[in-house]
Amino acid sequence: MIKYIEETTNYLQDKGFDNPEIGIILGTGLGQLINEVNIIKEVSYNHIPNFPTATVEFHKGKLIYGEIAGKKAIVMQGRFHLYEGYTLQDVTYPVRIMEKLGIKTLLVSNAAGAINLDFKKGELMLIEDHINLQGSSPLAFKGVEELGERFTDMSAPYDAEINSKFKSIAKANNIKLHKGVYASVVGPQLETKAEYRMLKIIGSDAVGMSTVPEIIVANHLKLKVAAVSVLTDECDPDNLEPVNIADIIENAAKAEPDMITLFKELIKTL
Ligand code: HPA
Repeated sequence: MIKYIEETTNYLQDKGFDNPEIGIILGTGLGQLINEVNIIKEVSYNHIPNFPTATVEFHKGKLIYGEIAGKKAIVMQGRFHLYEGYTLQDVTYPVRIMEKLGIKTLLVSNAAGAINLDFKKGELMLIEDHINLQGSSPLAFKGVEELGERFTDMSAPYDAEINSKFKSIAKANNIKLHKGVYASVVGPQLETKAEYRMLKIIGSDAVGMSTVPEIIVANHLKLKVAAVSVLTDECDPDNLEPVNIADIIENAAKAEPDMITLFKELIKTL
């Protein structure tokens, strides 16, 4: 993997991806942050050597380099998911590349279902901890110790200082920001009623199909990391309605302006 990482990094450096400080991964329905970026360079995923091959659906996936709130950043517009058939090493490969290019901080967003029924769709949740239910680890491969510690500590995977800044920013801008535990599942099917009940019993506040692999690798690489979920549906097992993906995307879009404010204001402080 080291050779591949070097090749990809060299390619992007040649393209002008020069000393970024911050990496940002944008989740489903959360692409508008890009309007806040003074774009210097952008490259389609399918042109980047050794990047996972984009599926038709994610043809639009792009790596963007630019300035946001005066800081050099790399933004992933679109991410790779386990449910698309990628491996966990594929899903997290871009995190390794962003780290190699120089980022010190990784900010992640996603769309998630609300397991905690005090949380409503269209609201945001700051991830304070997670439960990995994807059945494997992005660190479970031969040679992982050449890239970082195999037995990566996960006692505090989310950066406390960034999280405390997020809370202050939310307060100052009148944004409702819940705090909770995010559980990652494989998908792509949504959960059954029994699964939603289980997720609640084991301590999750939200559920989604991403983020945890990237957080694990960010910790493997000792990056500072924080993540925010947009809650797009309410997972009440006793009143469960059939899933409506259009609805999920629409609810993500509704919460997007608040997410943009949080990220932009936070970046100013980094
Ligand atoms: N379950 C899993 N992933 C999701 C959900 C959900 O209810 N909502 C948005 N992403």
